[in-house]
Amino acid sequence: MKVAIVPGDGIGREVVPVAEGVLRYIRPEWDYYPVEVGYGRWERCGAAIGAEEIRALSEADAILFGAVTTPPDPDYLSVLLQIRHDLDLYANVRPVRGPGVDLIIVRENTEGLYSGIEWSLPGSACTLRVVTERGSRRIARFAAGLVKGGHLTIGTKANVIKSDVLFRRCVIEEAEAAGVAWEEKYIDALCLDVLMHPARYGVIVTTNIFGDILSDAAGYLVGGLGMLPSANIGDKHAFFEPVHGSAPDIAGRGIANPVAAIRSAALLLAHFGYADEAVAVDAAVNAALAAGVRTPDLGGAASTVQVGEAVIGRIREWM
Ligand code: NAI
Ligand code: MG
Repeated sequence: MKVAIVPGDGIGREVVPVAEGVLRYIRPEWDYYPVEVGYGRWERCGAAIGAEEIRALSEADAILFGAVTTPPDPDYLSVLLQIRHDLDLYANVRPVRGPGVDLIIVRENTEGLYSGIEWSLPGSACTLRVVTERGSRRIARFAAGLVKGGHLTIGTKANVIKSDVLFRRCVIEEAEAAGVAWEEKYIDALCLDVLMHPARYGVIVTTNIFGDILSDAAGYLVGGLGMLPSANIGDKHAFFEPVHGSAPDIAGRGIANPVAAIRSAALLLAHFGYADEAVAVDAAVNAALAAGVRTPDLGGAASTVQVGEAVIGRIREWM
């Protein structure tokens, strides 16, 4: 296995080494290599990512990513949008797991309001929301494939937005073809209901920006952004990253919560068939947290590195 390690900016540079340490402990024989992208690269050479980095990422079997800083500058092209597009990482899978909650948000990752098709005129700016039948059907099939016994929840604004009428129809047809029970909710009501009644939900499928917002909000259920991992899956590539960003407000202080990044490494292991190892990593994280080894966002006093050491310590005891 070739694993590209991409810390990015801010706390990405603090949490990714910890998650990499966990992966290396479990699979020391894999080939790990660093790739530098992000704001730091942009400041140095005027581009956040270059053709060479895209090639290095596309040659990897798996990518472990941190976060990148994206300034609200019209000349700055989002690294993540470019990577998701170039590697065709169409499924963004965001599990939210904790006491009383075990759900997966599946977000369409290549189109919708993040199509990248936008323009500015004096006094107005437009962003095109693109929904295609191909994109909707493939994310629907992916999400339906994750439903185990329960049902699929479809989040849209099909009552108001025409592009969601197409999305909704495609998802329903694919769910029925897969023999998966489904329900639908409008995304605004869904955001509230997921927070009020999380146990009612299993797999939720939605379009790009709605999934982005819903998954950050669902972080409330499990202790905040520092806890949420994600996987970006395409037919040829797989990319794993915490849901959170580069957190400039706490970067450089060694106090970022590495759990989201470590759990992203667990998703990587699970994706490539190392299910027992993935379970061991998640269990080690839970044991470390239960023992009080927590960063300040969780009310503790541990550092990023101390959490990583506690997690590896537990894995060492079990393996
Ligand atoms: P953010 O996720 O970086 O931070 C939001 C809040 O959560 C901050 O108060 C931060 O301190 C806290 N937080 C986030 N992760 C944490 C962790 N692991 N441990 C403890 N506290 C944590 O989102 P924000 O502030 O909106 O964006 C900051 C920068 O990150 C921006 O430039 C933004 O564009 C970028 N960003 C990048 C993402 C990515 O690379 N996937 C995703 C979201 C934002
Ligand atoms: Mg987000």
